[in-house]
Amino acid sequence: MITTRRARPEDVQEVVELANLVFRPASSGLNPSMGLQYPLFLSKRNAHDLFIAEDDGKIIALNGILKNTAVINGHKISIASMGAVCTHPDYRGQGIATRLLHEVLTSLHDEGVALLVISGDRGLYTRNGADFTSLKKRFTLTRGACDTDRVQAYGELPGMLSVTYYGKAITLVAEKFGELYQREPVRYLRPKWQVPILIKAAPGVNDVPYPPRLRAAASWVGECLSAYVLGSVKDNKFRVMEYAGDPVTVGILLQKMLTDSGITTVTVDVPIHDFQLTAYLEACGHKGEAEQYPFTFIITNTAVLWSQIQPILQERAKAICPNARLEVGLNDSPPGESKSDSQRNRRSGIEHESCPKSDMDQTRCEAPIDLNDGKALLHFVFDVENREQYGEPWDPILPLPLPWPGGLNFI
Ligand SMILES: CC(C)(COP(=O)(O)OP(=O)(O)OC[C@H]1O[C@@H](n2cnc3c(N)ncnc32)[C@H](O)[C@@H]1OP(=O)(O)O)[C@@H](O)C(=O)NCCC(=O)NCCS
Repeated sequence: MITTRRARPEDVQEVVELANLVFRPASSGLNPSMGLQYPLFLSKRNAHDLFIAEDDGKIIALNGILKNTAVINGHKISIASMGAVCTHPDYRGQGIATRLLHEVLTSLHDEGVALLVISGDRGLYTRNGADFTSLKKRFTLTRGACDTDRVQAYGELPGMLSVTYYGKAITLVAEKFGELYQREPVRYLRPKWQVPILIKAAPGVNDVPYPPRLRAAASWVGECLSAYVLGSVKDNKFRVMEYAGDPVTVGILLQKMLTDSGITTVTVDVPIHDFQLTAYLEACGHKGEAEQYPFTFIITNTAVLWSQIQPILQERAKAICPNARLEVGLNDSPPGESKSDSQRNRRSGIEHESCPKSDMDQTRCEAPIDLNDGKALLHFVFDVENREQYGEPWDPILPLPLPWPGGLNFI
């Protein structure tokens, strides 16, 4: 009989073996590196958040999450990442992954986690509330494909600013990278002690032999780090895993990787909210391709999400109208769970009071979307592309940016 439960520390070795069997099969030529690449996620410490299915004591399916916090302009939102979702090939098509996903969603809801990020858009996820919501631009920088005069004008570094390149020695400056990352306006909460571990692990670098060749460039003003780019190199092509710091200096570093370090191509994904880096790269003549984040999101607890984004909304609303006050409605059913009419009536509704520009009187308005529709709510709060118009106070204050899940916090 197939049963499900949370893993225990002593199960983690077997969990990692299943993940390697599915994601690093011998036929792929990749090393069985799942445990090495995801040392925080596939760890004994995180065993409680690895949901497994067993058949007669053998682990045959996994759905793991790693809980974290997103920090958006200084405000915290509880977020979990989901990864290593797999069912042993002999057990597929029996609803096991669906069952584990439902258990994970219920547990995240009950534990008050607001949001879940998932790598990919399988039907398994989209049938259960997941959807795309954020945009990025992919830039592929090649030598000679930019306006050299402009690059020189921008890229001319003042004498006190120096650039250093790192290979294996990256870990020596990991702590400095960690400090700079903590100043990013839209990011994950990441204690400094995690940084050397995550850099060494290279999460998300899934298509090159492990360990990958890591490379970083950093710009310094004296002892002070002003920007870094960090990524992996294959065939002289550099793919950025993560960058942080002054956006124009990040752009300069990307250009200098091309001219100083034998790299022929630099590929970087820039979230749409990083408009300064985008502007710099476009001013240099590089063309970015707008694409969805290759991740989907599920709102796992509406009430928690709304209360956690309140400070951001209030701050933004007050910038438009000093008297604006948004009221939070409650909706505490797990995603996908049907709700009775009475529950709907009692709980639906985000109400807000705002002062329309016309008369500056306080006006009570109904929520412009159905709060019980998780996907509608997701798009309302976070969607950048194909955004509907909702009028005031919503249009000037939404959408909110989400941290790029493809960096060192990838699982
Ligand atoms: C994706 C995966 C976890 C689904 O596991 P599962 O236990 O078979 O899932 P369920 O039975 O609950 O059904 C969900 C999926 O299986 C598919 N399915 C249904 N019947 C099936 C069958 N007889 N054989 C195989 N797949 C079947 C469903 O179409 C659905 O796929 P979708 O998400 O593309 O719509 C499993 O196929 C797997 O391990 N794949 C390889 C790893 C992977 O790609 N993981 C996802 C990373 S994003």
